[in-house]
Amino acid sequence: MKAARGLMMMGLLCFGLNGFSQTAKPITKSVMDNGKAVYLSRCLACHQVDGGGVPRLNAPLDGASAVIAADKAKLIRIVLKGYSDRVEIDGEYYSNNMAPHADLNNQQIADVLTYIRNSWSNKASAVTAAEVKALRAKLK
Ligand code: HEC
Repeated sequence: MKAARGLMMMGLLCFGLNGFSQTAKPITKSVMDNGKAVYLSRCLACHQVDGGGVPRLNAPLDGASAVIAADKAKLIRIVLKGYSDRVEIDGEYYSNNMAPHADLNNQQIADVLTYIRNSWSNKASAVTAAEVKALRAKLK
């Protein structure tokens, strides 16, 4: 009887943990390290080490509403296609052109986006290579 109750508790615990891992997938150190490496080599020059950007030239990534938004497709599109729309971003305009970075592979794009979504003051869910792959196919 005791053993049966123990088994039931374990079952409940596993169920609970599984449910949790599906809603908030933990972000591993290797994803953040890989994302940081891409950031340092491909994004740093414009967006700066603190994600602050350059006033009126390069948009900041730290605290940017689009960077932490639930809609990850916009971010993936920006990295694949570049960005020079000159639209208002959080009340400011930026005059530089961001070139496409479509030569990065799906994992590198996923990791750099997960990195910028979870660096400085940002905190948001991870971007997966599968999400990048799906959008890359659609944009072709
Ligand atoms: C040549 C400079 C440059 C480089 C390199 C660059 N960006 Fe950008 N980025 C910009 C500019 C300029 C904008 C704003 C474009 C506009 O206003 O039309 C921007 C905008 C963005 C935005 C949208 C921000 C918002 O709040 O809407 C994201 C996300 C972004 N960049 C990510 C990246 C990532 C990730 C990399 C590296 C893979 C990168 N950028 C490399 C210049 C750059």
